[in-house]
Amino acid sequence: MLLWFSAVKNNFDLMEEELIKLEGVTKEYPQGEIIIQALRGVDLTIKKGEFVAVMGPSGCGKSTLMHILGFLARPTAGRYIFAGRDSTTYSDDELAVVRNSQIGFIFQAFNLLPRTSVLDNVILPTNYTPGANYEEVRVRALQLLETVNLTHRLNNYPNQLSGGEQQRVAVARALINSPSLILADEPTGNLDSKATEEIMDILTALQRQGNTLLMVTHEKYLSNYTDRVIQMQDGQVVSS
Ligand SMILES: Nc1ncnc2c1ncn2[C@@H]1O[C@H](COP(=O)(O)OP(=O)(O)OP(=O)(O)O)[C@@H](O)[C@H]1O
Ligand SMILES: [Mg+2]
Repeated sequence: MLLWFSAVKNNFDLMEEELIKLEGVTKEYPQGEIIIQALRGVDLTIKKGEFVAVMGPSGCGKSTLMHILGFLARPTAGRYIFAGRDSTTYSDDELAVVRNSQIGFIFQAFNLLPRTSVLDNVILPTNYTPGANYEEVRVRALQLLETVNLTHRLNNYPNQLSGGEQQRVAVARALINSPSLILADEPTGNLDSKATEEIMDILTALQRQGNTLLMVTHEKYLSNYTDRVIQMQDGQVVSS
């Protein structure tokens, strides 16, 4: 009996560990007469707490994969199981809720709102969170900005900050809703080596706190910071 119970529990723990499972995921973009096959059958498993690099030549489908993982796009075919639930059948509203509450995005181009202060940029995603308490959110934003070392720039606008500082704001913004998954698409692509190192130190600290991270990069040496590399080519994962 006890053995049976522990076997079930182990099995459950194993399932629990899987945050992401993709099965035969394809993504097609119709372009007039032709169909662009951005993803051609991707199978992938990501465990909770992993830090994974996604690499491969331009146009091989890295950003498309990130968009699907972040619920910004739907697969054309295949299944996407997130936190044990098949998301393929979610309505658009359900997808928006999962996206806002579970996913933190960091982009190469920072994507901050220009006429909005640093503090308000970090708070912004909570505008779409039902029942968010402004005071609690503000305190959390201040804590996050402290962890990325920007407490002295709260009331500045993005164009008054360096690229590295803007990306640190974007990291704080990505964390405001305490996501289960952080997706970074070439987060250091616009940064010099010092700012790159700062962002990588923040991302590795996030992994140590138990976060799950995927990062697209063209820089081979950045995979030294990650647990493993998903190598893509022509819309497929060729090694992982
Ligand atoms: N919205 C879209 N409409 C049509 N085609 C698209 C769209 N998004 C991506 N594609 C095409 O899908 C393929 C994969 O694009 P994707 O952006 O995923 O590549 P990538 O690996 O991120 O490249 P890069 O390293 O240059 O960012 C490319 O051929 C691209 O032109
Ligand atoms: Mg891309």
